[in-house]
Amino acid sequence: MNILESKKEIKSFKAMDILEKAIEMEDIIHLELGEPDFDTPKPIKDEGIRAINEEKIIYTHSMGMKELRTEIAKYYNEKYGTNICYENIVVTAGTSPALLLAIYVVLEYSHKKEILTSNPGYACYPNFINFLSGKMKNYDLDINNNFKMDINKIKEKITENTAAILINSPSNPTGDVIKEKEYQEIADLGLCVISDEIYQGLVYNGKQYDSILNYTDNAIVLNGFSKLFSMTGWRLGYLIVPDKFLSLTQKLEQNLFISANTISQYAAIKALTSLEVEKEVENMIKEYNNRRIITINELKKHNLKIAANPEGAYYMIIDVREYTDNSLKFAYEILEKAKVAVTPGIDFGSNLEGFIRISYATSTENIIEGIRRIGDYIKGL
Ligand SMILES: Cc1ncc(COP(=O)(O)O)c(C=O)c1O
Repeated sequence: MNILESKKEIKSFKAMDILEKAIEMEDIIHLELGEPDFDTPKPIKDEGIRAINEEKIIYTHSMGMKELRTEIAKYYNEKYGTNICYENIVVTAGTSPALLLAIYVVLEYSHKKEILTSNPGYACYPNFINFLSGKMKNYDLDINNNFKMDINKIKEKITENTAAILINSPSNPTGDVIKEKEYQEIADLGLCVISDEIYQGLVYNGKQYDSILNYTDNAIVLNGFSKLFSMTGWRLGYLIVPDKFLSLTQKLEQNLFISANTISQYAAIKALTSLEVEKEVENMIKEYNNRRIITINELKKHNLKIAANPEGAYYMIIDVREYTDNSLKFAYEILEKAKVAVTPGIDFGSNLEGFIRISYATSTENIIEGIRRIGDYIKGL
């Protein structure tokens, strides 16, 4: 693949555009970003400080520290019943670089161009695919049925040029959680699967954990510490890569990043091994669920239409098609007039035009006040 073929039509990440405008304004309630408001658990922070004080600040192996890779493999094997070896783990500077490597490797290895993704889906996927000279092919989710996938709609989009399908569960933006039958259907397509599992663990109705690796070996898994461990700024993620892609992944990681942040790698070992952290994470999950229920109740109280019943992650989609067919403009109006930052649905694909996304990874007070402001604004239209 020739990178110069890439059209480089990178679109801005609208949630970030809104945030950047909102932080210059006063008295804004932030419901736009998926950033946990919890502190990083103390044992993790202490470990980072220890690493600095003990001068553990040199480059690591490009694939990550063996101890961390071993703990990641153990974590997956214990939580999901998988059978992963540490050699297949590649530690990266966040899940975003992991996504870059995964898409590159799949395109390069397959000599094919097309990557299937859902509409709606995570806003950055099209930009990564486009940047790497790939071609995004969308399959529609059912907006009238909790944004569920329909395997037949996916099958219709497969061509000789399909390199992989990129899935994300729990989903940003819909909060949908892929179930066993759906994972099996995806695996049965026989395609390589890139599975973004960054919201794993943040599930509120039923089964906490599952991974594509329980259904096929022909998959690259992406995950990271940002969400579950409240470590966004530590910039640490990882890939679980089948043997066939390992050497290509390693070469790219060496050249582009040398290695992930060393201090964060020490801290991440603590995240995966400390019982105190495990308890704190459990409490965070409980609190997210409380907030999810409060968000649903508040939206109903203010006659705002919930587009789907989210089971995971920490996002909620509101249907505002009655008031607008331009969600970007509407989001800026809500920001200026109601003083609430929200994300326009169009950021996640054409099927979310006329919708907005809010995040409930913020305090109950913010959720209640933010929804009240949106409700009052919409009532006045
Ligand atoms: C679905 C999804 N994948 C990947 C990322 C990137 O996360 P990271 O902070 O690990 O780069 C995000 C961040 O919001 C996300 O929502």
